[in-house]
Amino acid sequence: MRKLFIIPTCFLLMIGCYGNEKSIEPLSTESFLIIAHRGASTYAPEHTILAYEIAQQADADYIEVDLQMTKDGELVAMHDEKVDRTTDGKGFVKEYTLDELKLLNAGRWFNNNYPSLANSEYKYLNIPTLDEIFSYFGDSVNYHIEMKSPGIYEGMEEKLVALIKKYKLIYVDEEFPKIVIESFDGRSLLKVHELEPKLPLIQLFSFKEEAALSIQDYKRLNTYASGIGVNISSVDKDFIQEVKLNGLHILLYSISSEIEMKQAINLKANGAYTNNPEMGIRVRRLLEQ
Ligand code: G3P
Ligand code: CA
Repeated sequence: MRKLFIIPTCFLLMIGCYGNEKSIEPLSTESFLIIAHRGASTYAPEHTILAYEIAQQADADYIEVDLQMTKDGELVAMHDEKVDRTTDGKGFVKEYTLDELKLLNAGRWFNNNYPSLANSEYKYLNIPTLDEIFSYFGDSVNYHIEMKSPGIYEGMEEKLVALIKKYKLIYVDEEFPKIVIESFDGRSLLKVHELEPKLPLIQLFSFKEEAALSIQDYKRLNTYASGIGVNISSVDKDFIQEVKLNGLHILLYSISSEIEMKQAINLKANGAYTNNPEMGIRVRRLLEQ
């Protein structure tokens, strides 16, 4: 049995009264959120415009975009620090200029790895920049954007916030924030919070065993984060209840099967990242009936 850590309400109120620059943007409580992990990455090469389009067509609540940064400071959608797994190139993203990176093919690997899902269109895909993604989708989708390895990319946070402002994607007083920023790197999230407190933030955790946070952790998280994202294998109902009682949302990653999706919804998490948003929407609809 877990011990429930609950920060007294008066402490949370103190944080809330600390000042506008420390106010935390709330997240949607409307329904269980389906976040398309790396786009609809079950069906198309991850982090390509096509993968995001399939997620949009499936009515995902959010598309998730992982960010890396090129040698010449361009934010690009890619999960790994190296291009090896998802392109025909080799080496670190940070060692490529954008022009060099654009020459790589970002779809053929998928056709080779998943012949039953292969599609001739995938042979011509490249790595999109965040600027291209915002320009293409505008405000027609909601975005969960993860800063990957921000410690190795100087100025990543400033570039990200500037791009979000360029496309006017900070929506306040909406039930559904247009953009949510996430990272495993708390220092980087704090930096974003200082740059733009209106952006809701998710602190990611990867727990090897049972998920656990201390009172100190909750106090710290409540100074900048709207919620946390945690690997589903580490949580149970008590932990999820504890996180919510401490004023944070909890999202679970990464779910691929219907069984796990049902589990995440029944655990009363606030949402889940899934490679198959069509499945997520279908299971959510089934359980809501
Ligand atoms: O962003 C949540 C989840 O995507 C974190 O895991 O490794 O898939 O980015 P990863
Ligand atoms: Ca991610």
